[in-house]
Amino acid sequence: MAVLPASSALLSSCTGLYYGSFVEEGGVLRVSKGEFQQVKGEKQIERDFVVIRGDSMRYPIGIFKTPNNHYMANLMQCTHKGCELSIGGGIFNCPCHGSEFDPSGRVLEGPAEENLKSFEITADNENIYVHGS
Ligand code: FES
Repeated sequence: MAVLPASSALLSSCTGLYYGSFVEEGGVLRVSKGEFQQVKGEKQIERDFVVIRGDSMRYPIGIFKTPNNHYMANLMQCTHKGCELSIGGGIFNCPCHGSEFDPSGRVLEGPAEENLKSFEITADNENIYVHGS
């Protein structure tokens, strides 16, 4: 029987999602901005999305970084019937009935009618902080 290591790098390569690490401090999730950087060969490229998921989180949070260094965080719970969303092609996708949401959480395609739950984000030079999760 094969034993799979529980590494976020492996999860990333299998699903296309990158699960970043974070620290919870008083209800605020601190994520290093370095989580959005990826080294490929000799190149350093920026990730658009980092997903964070803790043991106590029923759904992950998808954090999107815009080209001009703004961040948006959304709960990856479909507002139609509650399925967990995936990310592909730069948007949130629902595997259950096909709803799609843009990186800011707005509905692009139904049957979902409500936007995703979003979180306030603040940042300093090194980290971003996801509030109200
Ligand atoms: S639960 Fe997502 S589209 Fe139905």
